[in-house]
Amino acid sequence: MSSTPTPAAASRAPITVPGVAARKVRDGAVPLVMVTAYDAPGARMASEAGVDLILVGDSLAMVVLGYDDTLQVTVDDLVHHTAAVARAKPHPLVVADLPWLAYHLSPEDTIRNAARLIRAGAGAVKLEGGRKRTRMVEALVDTEIPVMGHIGLTPQSVHAMGGFKVQAKSADAIRLLVDDAKALEHAGCFSIVLEGVPSEVAALVTEAVDVPTIGIGAGPDVDGQVLVYHDLLGIEDRMAPKFVRRYASLRQASVDAMAAYAADVRTGAFPGPEESYHLAADVAETLALYGSGA
Ligand code: KIV
Repeated sequence: MSSTPTPAAASRAPITVPGVAARKVRDGAVPLVMVTAYDAPGARMASEAGVDLILVGDSLAMVVLGYDDTLQVTVDDLVHHTAAVARAKPHPLVVADLPWLAYHLSPEDTIRNAARLIRAGAGAVKLEGGRKRTRMVEALVDTEIPVMGHIGLTPQSVHAMGGFKVQAKSADAIRLLVDDAKALEHAGCFSIVLEGVPSEVAALVTEAVDVPTIGIGAGPDVDGQVLVYHDLLGIEDRMAPKFVRRYASLRQASVDAMAAYAADVRTGAFPGPEESYHLAADVAETLALYGSGA
């Protein structure tokens, strides 16, 4: 097994925060591609696939750690998984999520938590919320930590929102969302995730700011898209949100592969001679002599 980058990957220019910040589709940029990843193999595959950003999302809680919402993951969990992603030395920019309660208490606490993610290998952090987060965004940016915003359906607000529901459906809510985006941009965010909002609203927000918007369940009129690794690859298929497109069915392929393995073990078809180690002929002969009692 080799971790040497392919020639194509090695020759690609590094993806930087300023490079991402400049990617507005209205200025002629190609849309940004972001995917979540939580470990080294996932990061290596995302890198080889040529995505622009890897998000070590707090969706970790639901798709990897088996929790029902994202509120259960800690900074320690995110540091652990960010470090695993970073060890793959991926080409995309690595963004790590600040989990719930990691950026709510004080600017000092927020900076300390974000710094742990940066030291684990992230190039930027992401946090949820609009105007009420600008103090924390400014504190992070002052400390040279790049910040990606996240507004609309913010999963860490699941209880306050009354569930995972599409947001910004009324004129007032749309106005507030645009204000949130502008406030995050003004505070120094280099990009903004827009989740779970009508396409028309996402287009309005995207037009209102000069930093790129990255949508999930926000339609096509944004500056990029993000999908969760397990959704995109069909590893998680218990729920099928409307906005997910599955590009593979790895869950079923994995179940089928493991069932075939189980069958082979039970019938004795695995392992075969080619999957077994063998003694040199002279040693095997001596062994046979022992066995015969000679
Ligand atoms: O944690 C996550 O995966 C996210 C994406 C849904 C944007 O925040």
